[in-house]
Amino acid sequence: MSEIFSKVSQIKDKIISEMSSVKDEASLKEFQEKHLSKKSELSQLMSEIKNLANEEKAKFGQCMNEARAAVNEAFQKKAQEINDALIAQKLKRETIDITLPGYNYKMGGINPFYLVQDEIIDTFVSMGYEVKEGPDVESDYYNFERMNIPANHPAREMQDSFYINPTTLLRTHTSPEQARAMDEKGGKPLMMICPGKCFRRDDDDVTHSHQFGQIEGLVVGKGITLANLKGTLELFIRKMFGEKREVRFRGSYFPFTEPSVEVDVTCMNCGGKGCPTCKGTGYIEILGAGMVHPNVLKMSGYDPKVYSGFAFGVGIERVAMLRYGIDDIRKIYQGDVRFIEQFSRK
Ligand code: PHE
Repeated sequence: MSEIFSKVSQIKDKIISEMSSVKDEASLKEFQEKHLSKKSELSQLMSEIKNLANEEKAKFGQCMNEARAAVNEAFQKKAQEINDALIAQKLKRETIDITLPGYNYKMGGINPFYLVQDEIIDTFVSMGYEVKEGPDVESDYYNFERMNIPANHPAREMQDSFYINPTTLLRTHTSPEQARAMDEKGGKPLMMICPGKCFRRDDDDVTHSHQFGQIEGLVVGKGITLANLKGTLELFIRKMFGEKREVRFRGSYFPFTEPSVEVDVTCMNCGGKGCPTCKGTGYIEILGAGMVHPNVLKMSGYDPKVYSGFAFGVGIERVAMLRYGIDDIRKIYQGDVRFIEQFSRK
């Protein structure tokens, strides 16, 4: 009866050699149906058991079990191989190339208005000035009365205004902070600056805007003179524009200072020859200043016979324009990235 045993062995070898042609999931499934089901060639052999002598039956069963185990083992190994290959393929397909450059986020820049404002503040803080703030919506009393501009004074017209109601307006300058600072100090010496927004019913053009920034400055003490004012402003202007730019002090009029000056710097557009930006004058005005008017000192509780002081108001945009050669103030407000990108703190 050894015939049947060698047949088992033959079939087993044949099945295992067929395994080499299994290359993918589909052929693996086909193979499984063909050789591992009850109807498989190997399982069919089981029916031969009835023809065997009793003493051979157990041996045949064992032989069949071994053959099936061998086929099964080969199948499991193959299934594992195919599965591993599939996973490897999938991983390859889904790989992320981490060497690719990332997205580049545009960082823009800092508006030159703030670059200049910060630099002016730093300059005065380094000289010992305090930094104050005041309200954008101001009373007629602080904006005009305390600045020696009573009702019906023609100087009110110089600063045509946005009124909220007959006694409240958007402040036309940062000068009311002079009065607020003096009130706070209660008659003692002081040095302060106050940056802030101002509003005027100006027609907008290349050097004017209905909203703009100023930095107010005020020094009050004993023996303060025009020489102190000039020295301070010259130091500040040289720091902002360097040694080469031409600076001009020009007599002027403000109701709250006496004497009053305006300070001009040579035009960034034409370098002083005269052009539409500077209206043909060759200069751009950047600040108004003067010795604090005795009436303003008196109203703020300082005796003008004992105390004197100087004050100034710098136009922030004007300084930015002169500093960076910006020919139109409106560019500062438009938020065009091509403009803003050119500025950074570096
Ligand atoms: N407040 C004035 C203006 O806005 C500027 C100024 C400030 C002049 C302080 C003199 C002293 O035009």
